[in-house]
Amino acid sequence: MSESLAFYFSLLIVFVLFIVRTSKNLHSNIIHQIAYGITAFFDVTPLGRILSRLSQDMSTIDFMLPVAVVNFLYMGFLLLATLAGIGLGVWKIFLALLPLVGAYFGLQIFFRKTNIEVQRLESLSRAPPISHLSSTLNGMDTIRSFSALESFVKINDKHLDHNNVEKFALKYIISWYGLRLDMIGAAIILFVFGGITLTRIFGGLDAGSAAIALSYTSGFTALLSTFSVFCSDLEIRMNAVERFWEYKKVIQETQNPHAILPQPEWPSEGHIEFKDFSFKYLNGPLVLKNLNFIIPAKSKTAVVGRTGAGKSSLFQGMFRISEPAYGTILLDGVDYTSVPISYLRSKLAIIPQDPTLFMESLRYNLDPFDEYSDEDIWNALDLVQLRDVVMGLKDKLSERCEENGSNFSVGQRQLLCMARAILKKSSILLLDEATASVDVETDGIIQSTIRTAFRDCTVITIAHRLNTIMDNDLVLVLDKGSIAEYDSPVNLLDQKGQFYSMVQATGPSSAQYLERIARGEISVLQHLSNESSLSIATPQAKKLKQKKSKRTSKKIKNR
Ligand SMILES: Nc1ncnc2c1ncn2[C@@H]1O[C@H](COP(=O)(O)OP(=O)(O)OP(=O)(O)O)[C@@H](O)[C@H]1O
Ligand SMILES: [Mg+2]
Repeated sequence: MSESLAFYFSLLIVFVLFIVRTSKNLHSNIIHQIAYGITAFFDVTPLGRILSRLSQDMSTIDFMLPVAVVNFLYMGFLLLATLAGIGLGVWKIFLALLPLVGAYFGLQIFFRKTNIEVQRLESLSRAPPISHLSSTLNGMDTIRSFSALESFVKINDKHLDHNNVEKFALKYIISWYGLRLDMIGAAIILFVFGGITLTRIFGGLDAGSAAIALSYTSGFTALLSTFSVFCSDLEIRMNAVERFWEYKKVIQETQNPHAILPQPEWPSEGHIEFKDFSFKYLNGPLVLKNLNFIIPAKSKTAVVGRTGAGKSSLFQGMFRISEPAYGTILLDGVDYTSVPISYLRSKLAIIPQDPTLFMESLRYNLDPFDEYSDEDIWNALDLVQLRDVVMGLKDKLSERCEENGSNFSVGQRQLLCMARAILKKSSILLLDEATASVDVETDGIIQSTIRTAFRDCTVITIAHRLNTIMDNDLVLVLDKGSIAEYDSPVNLLDQKGQFYSMVQATGPSSAQYLERIARGEISVLQHLSNESSLSIATPQAKKLKQKKSKRTSKKIKNR
């Protein structure tokens, strides 16, 4: 007794350890696949689906699958033992049972096919309510300001109804299957009883064998239907593994096995050369075509063009979000595809149009790898004129950022990104200008930081407003993914091409003003401070500004 208990417990421990290890490996494997997946994967996969896989499916694998495996094995062995019991009594009956066994397997195959399909539909219908709820919560401010909450609730109800329809379908087919199974079980009992009776009447069976066969047969139907339930339960749980395993196929970012690590200070100069550079997203068409141009070290270059011209794609290409379709980029003479991708990205600084902060301390957001002293961080904040703002916070550098950095304005978030770039001492800064979301004053700080703290860096700016880039060294005009013009602003104005038309489109007086900036008669900073004082000078603007600063301090107090 004690030996069998010990054997049972050691078997249990081995089983539990095996399950924990398998789950752990599976989870870390898939997390790695997702984390290193190409960005196109995140473009086409709803966030809700990924979350549902990593939460619901993972918990199924962790908790329900082991139970389903144990149940399946236990019932399977019990069923075999029962069949053996019946066979010991009257083995000839098995021959008569063959058609019923055939019917059972036929039913099983039919049910499996339908069940898998309905399972798949049910699982697909689970993601939309999660995605919809998460995007609704994200955009709650906008939804409320348009009084559109009711319609969003209706859409949510629709998604839930759809999910319920699939759930009910699943329940119905299980009931349908259960009924057929009971019928087959009843037929088996009838055959066995009939067989035993006939064999007994014609004298070929002793009472003992008949009793064994009868006693095993009485529980056979219940056993068969429980076994089938456990089979389908196991299959359902295994679907979670299958769905989870699908992420094993996520295409990974290219890791060049022959990548070389350049000098630690690379790229110290910031000289950029695009050589026959073409770029596309996954299986799409080329969005940048055969670009050949040089951005000299430490120069300030603006990228302009119509919407969809490929400006943001240029930055995506520089960060190797997708590998170049053809050609390459040389950074200080080094082919950027020959450098490990993470190393390359660590050397470039980017300030996106809508920067996101992590839900961590401000310090973590500025120095995620804990490489710099507090003094360095305060100096960087000084340069972007955020020292007073951060000093005004209750926990200073330990102040926690809310989701997406929503407790800071877009302009402040851009300035925090700039402070991070200053800390990193990147020699190349890519700036995607924010438009309406940044006020004139913050814009002034951003522009003056570029011209002071980043004086010795190569800065490429995607310009949405011409007034901030008219003093740049070079302007690249993109048109449908190709270079339309590339020269200094003054030369482009003189050429009277696309850039000239863009400037003229701002209106005669503005065009004249922009031309004066390009010719160095007015500085951009002077122009922005004029705009700032003008905007503050009007009573409405003053009121707006006071309201805004009250709102910001209230926001910070509320936290
Ligand atoms: N993630 C993506 N997947 C597939 N195609 C994309 C993706 N992002 C952009 N594109 C395509 O690439 C082309 C260039 O887009 P891009 O965003 O670079 O333009 P843009 O010049 O930055 O425009 P905007 O001024 O509106 O920001 C467009 O045709 C667009 O449809
Ligand atoms: Mg863009």
